[in-house]
Amino acid sequence: MEIIVQETAEQASMLAARLIAKTISDKPDAVLGLPTGSTPLPLYKELIRIHKEENLDFSSVTSFNLDEYLGLGPEHPQSYHHFMYENLFNHINIPAENINIPDGLTENVPSFCNGYEQKIKDKGGIDIQLLGIGSDGHIGFNEPSSSLTSRTRIKTLTPNTIKDNARFFENESAVPRHVITMGLGTVMESRECILLAFGEAKAEAVRQSVEGPLCAMVPASVLQMHNRSRFFIDAEAASKLEKVEYYNWVFSNKPAWQQFEK
Ligand code: GLP
Repeated sequence: MEIIVQETAEQASMLAARLIAKTISDKPDAVLGLPTGSTPLPLYKELIRIHKEENLDFSSVTSFNLDEYLGLGPEHPQSYHHFMYENLFNHINIPAENINIPDGLTENVPSFCNGYEQKIKDKGGIDIQLLGIGSDGHIGFNEPSSSLTSRTRIKTLTPNTIKDNARFFENESAVPRHVITMGLGTVMESRECILLAFGEAKAEAVRQSVEGPLCAMVPASVLQMHNRSRFFIDAEAASKLEKVEYYNWVFSNKPAWQQFEK
């Protein structure tokens, strides 16, 4: 696990965007796992800029989104479909047929979820899984107590997450109760994980995920078991970490061949 602390969300996002751009340049048919939320927005903006100004080519890239609200169709302004097209897909050259997002209107949830897992396998697995984190430590919509080996499935949101996400809806009661989310086991099979966390509201979840015990009550702590996971966080999100000086020491003493180059 590597903890990379940057002063601002902007700086952390730029670094993470570089890594993703490099993955795509090295492997044009890379498979990306993508999150929604306010956290990845600066990173998506930067990827769009790199695409437009430096010709980063998404034409062979495949994407799998982490989650979707059940009951919301792709046209719904709060659906994650809508979010992804608005904030990324409409601005890059990824072909529509390479975009995968859980279907919030599926009539057969278990069968859809099995099919989603199969599709990830058929594509050869996820190369880079990008993640945000909920204030309760959830990743995707794997709420506290999610099995650490869970697969894509239906979940019921906690009242805490409903409250956190109500800001995007008219009111709290408009937030769907159920979602489809990739499981923690699904995320763990990706070759590399990049978790972004910004702001003080995420500091406690980051502390528990990085320095607390691995446990289902803090879903992001499962990344302690991943052999290639990195947290890109800003100073506020790092404010509760006990060993932050050590993480900074490691980052500033990386051997040249391990530095993030283009
Ligand atoms: C939702 C998403 C998560 C995301 C989280 C945090 O619950 N399902 O993938 O990480 O929100 O959102 P934000 O980045 O807006 O804080």
